Amino acid sequence: MKSNLVKISELGKHLDKDITLAGWVWQIRKQGKLVFIDLFDGSTYKTLQTTVKKNKLESNNFDAIAKLYRGASIQIFGTLKEDQRAPYGYEVLAKKVDIIHPSSEEYDQLVPPDAGPDVKLSKRHILIRGPKTSSILRMRSRVLQYSREFFFSRGAEEVSPPTIVEAQAEGGAELFEIQYFDRKAYLTQSSQLYLETAIFALRDVFCVLPSYRAEKSRTRRHLTEYTHVEGEYAFMDYEGLIDYLEDYIIHVLTRIKENDKDLLALFDREDLQVPSKPFPRVTYDEALKMLDEMGHHIEYGEDISDAPERALVEKFGVPIILEKFPKTLKPFYHKINEENPEVTNSADFIFPGLGEVIGSGERETDLDSMLERMAKMDPPLNPNDYYWYMDLRKYGSVPHSGFGLGLERFVQWILGLDHIREACLYPRLVNRVSP
Ligand code: 4AD
Repeated sequence: MKSNLVKISELGKHLDKDITLAGWVWQIRKQGKLVFIDLFDGSTYKTLQTTVKKNKLESNNFDAIAKLYRGASIQIFGTLKEDQRAPYGYEVLAKKVDIIHPSSEEYDQLVPPDAGPDVKLSKRHILIRGPKTSSILRMRSRVLQYSREFFFSRGAEEVSPPTIVEAQAEGGAELFEIQYFDRKAYLTQSSQLYLETAIFALRDVFCVLPSYRAEKSRTRRHLTEYTHVEGEYAFMDYEGLIDYLEDYIIHVLTRIKENDKDLLALFDREDLQVPSKPFPRVTYDEALKMLDEMGHHIEYGEDISDAPERALVEKFGVPIILEKFPKTLKPFYHKINEENPEVTNSADFIFPGLGEVIGSGERETDLDSMLERMAKMDPPLNPNDYYWYMDLRKYGSVPHSGFGLGLERFVQWILGLDHIREACLYPRLVNRVSP
């Protein structure tokens, strides 16, 4: 295949020139001795209108071209022209069309327009071809690009901890157990504990890795495997962390507004607002009072579930920080607040219409406090399983803080997607591990 292929994303510089493109038929219409093909090549959601005139075609295959179906792969040689009527403002007048591989009539039946979620998920490898679904994957890629851009600009290094682990990070019930040769191991719920070890080597670190949750939650914001963007920072206190995370969110959203307006427009999200600093902050205690007034009564110490969490953030209409959760509600690694030992220096970032996107906090550095809380967990955690984590609190411990962001939830919020399954390539759900 030719290496000088032009991509649809970079047509501008080739106007009035002869170019070669390769891609897939997205739409095809035949009108007598004319065939119109909208070509999709994956470099952008935009399709390129291609006009094939029988009498202008140097290749002798007009009839075969006219019989192509959506999904067929083709290579086109032709002249690029401006055409205000074409959706993308350009048109290619084909001189040659090579059929690389055909498709078939069945293609459009694979995912009919009225297909239900199950068919769409089974045929996701087909569904992702095409302007709109591919744009979600592109936005995901951009969010990762801008995230890495931010972390690197602040001096953090990327590390890759293992995701097969010996001990839990978050909570027992949500752990996937695996047979690891002659012993049991688990799929990680979070890379946080390993990231904490890495700050002693690299100071500020982040990772982008899958986390696994064996939750039987069939909600529109739960996956069993998701992409977890996590960071951990040495010598950073709680307020420093909040400041960093506000800057991070603002950076990613600002870059999207600058660079990806067209992707936002496809999802009617041009009005996406970049929040300003400081984000509204609500303590757990204040949240319970506010929710009570709104008719959601929650006992102190109970989790604030999805519906009340969303009701709360709706009052603000912008992302908020829900903070200072009781120590009984948060894992053992959250630092106890110095003024109120019942609560932790923990902060969840709650986004309107969706809920929690970031879980974060300052880390406990007091070994005794940590051991006491591990013993009180149900079932109790065995410090021997975490000997290396305990060592961090024995040898040169420092104040540090970190966070975890669910990439799919962030993308879901940015594009206003109904369900989190749309924000990943192949979602892993309670009842689905294929394709
Ligand atoms: O709040 P979580 O459980 O926090 C942790 O795992 C921390 N150890 C992270 C850290 O500080 N390094 O999870 C963090 C985020 C949530 O805010 C949410 O966005 C996402 O991970 N998340 C899920 N996303 C999709 N499906 C699920 N089942 C998720 N569970 C958590």
